Amino acid sequence: MEFDNTKHSLNFEEMDSYHRDFIEIYNSLEYDTSEAYKNVMIKILEQTKLHFCHEEELMSKHKYPRIKEHSDEHKKVLYEMEYFINGSNTIVGRKILKSYFLEGLPSWFDTHLVSMDSDLSSFLKEKINS
Ligand SMILES: [Fe+2]
Ligand SMILES: [Fe+2]
Repeated sequence: MEFDNTKHSLNFEEMDSYHRDFIEIYNSLEYDTSEAYKNVMIKILEQTKLHFCHEEELMSKHKYPRIKEHSDEHKKVLYEMEYFINGSNTIVGRKILKSYFLEGLPSWFDTHLVSMDSDLSSFLKEKINS
């Protein structure tokens, strides 16, 4: 994964920095082994908790009207990550974790940034600059 300015940048550093960190951790995968996928997923989960917590603080501080919808989506993703990590002690579970990492996660990330996060950053930029 590459941090793609046209797709990923919200031009709002408070949020962009977490998104760049996400990609950096994602790219730290060195080996094509189930152990490696699991370890990187655990790091992503920890960083994503901070990332979401930060966005949720911004939402509540600035009374973002779609806070419930956005936070519910965050909860769903954290649940998925935990679920796939915990399930990775079987052969099938390891295959699922790998395909989640290679396909599900990047596609979720792109979609979330262009939809919910971009809506939130526009709202915040307007709020803060007015
Ligand atoms: Fe985000
Ligand atoms: Fe978000």
